[in-house]
Amino acid sequence: MRFTSDVDLFSDPTLHDPYPVYAELRAQGPAVYLERHEAWAIPRYAEVRNALRKWETFSSANGVALNDAMNAGLNGTVLASDPPLHRRLRSVLSEQLAPRGLERLRADLTTQAADLVDELFDKGEFDAVRDLAQVFPLRVVADLIGVSPAVRGQLLAWADASFTAFGPLNQRMIDLQPVRQAMHEWLESAGPDDLAPGSLGRAIYEAADAGVIEQASCPRLLSAYVTAGIDTTINALSNAVHLFAQNPEQWDAVRLGGAEDAFNEVLRYDSPVQAFTRTTTVDVPLDGVTIPAGDRVVLLYGSGNRDDRHYPAPDRFDVARRAGDHLSFGFGIHACAGQGLARMEADAILSALAHRVHRFETGTPVRHLNNVIRGLESLPVRVR
Ligand code: HEM
Repeated sequence: MRFTSDVDLFSDPTLHDPYPVYAELRAQGPAVYLERHEAWAIPRYAEVRNALRKWETFSSANGVALNDAMNAGLNGTVLASDPPLHRRLRSVLSEQLAPRGLERLRADLTTQAADLVDELFDKGEFDAVRDLAQVFPLRVVADLIGVSPAVRGQLLAWADASFTAFGPLNQRMIDLQPVRQAMHEWLESAGPDDLAPGSLGRAIYEAADAGVIEQASCPRLLSAYVTAGIDTTINALSNAVHLFAQNPEQWDAVRLGGAEDAFNEVLRYDSPVQAFTRTTTVDVPLDGVTIPAGDRVVLLYGSGNRDDRHYPAPDRFDVARRAGDHLSFGFGIHACAGQGLARMEADAILSALAHRVHRFETGTPVRHLNNVIRGLESLPVRVR
């Protein structure tokens, strides 16, 4: 059996609202061949999770993007490697991003978030994307990586261009090529002296000096921080404000009951990273469909999270749902290395908002179209 579709997952209309397309793909079968992208979509929860678990079968070593140019550039990065190389690269990041290392940041993040929210609350009206969601993670992650103010000014554009490059080689990606080029030039020329002493960025070069990783791996690990840690959290936070403005009774539940499960539901409902890809290493039978060895597979996290085979009434935003098993941080050996930090940032911001804000009233949101990231360009807000 072979299910096929001619849908363009990365067209403007689909990026505006991918969920009806995902529902069609899930209804078609466990794996659907996407003719336009020459790749298979895996749209259902169970199969996405299973593929993430079986890294030997669904390999990252040939890249996790949907185009050859980006995959060539990803070669040897933590995202685009299998064990044993992946284990070595990841150990450098895990040590820095482990809960023990992060706990010392918590008090500082809580204060920074409260100050920012107080300042915005006093203004009464602000843009939830530009004034809140972009400001906080950018500040936190740039400080952690230890980059100069000049580089900090570029990080948003770099992260956006990098995520779009995980999609197909479409016009959106081509238009952002000069931005990616500038990022690569900086990554290749950067050395330990460009990164603050004691920072996560500097620690990468120290790991190379200690022989844990090759010197050549340093720019690639640095790129993981620069891209993975910023746009993701930014869009998670702006999606959160948008959802709580649309669902005031759910915001009441957060104000009374805390933010942790609520953040999982925000991530489930609108996964900031909608998809990454893998390559099959053997023929893979999936419930009557066989994906041949060597084919590219798009793992649709954003679709799996809306699968009613796993989540009852998945299109309802409900913070009381136990959604901690969502796919938005991935799963298995490549599961997000920065999720502890992302959760800490979200907890700091949502708790500060819960303390001050009774209701969000929003103007018209403007969606930001990126091949892989789902989020907003702008969201005018008035708070009470
Ligand atoms: C809400 C925020 C975030 C989301 C939704 C998110 C999402 C993801 C996803 C889906 C993956 C899996 C990649 C795969 O399956 O191939 C991943 C990996 C990764 N993330 Fe995150 N991320 C977030 C925040 C962060 C932060 C704050 C950092 C670091 C500062 C970070 C660093 C990484 C790294 C280094 C990897 C690669 C792990 C590996 O390949 O072993 N992420 N992230």
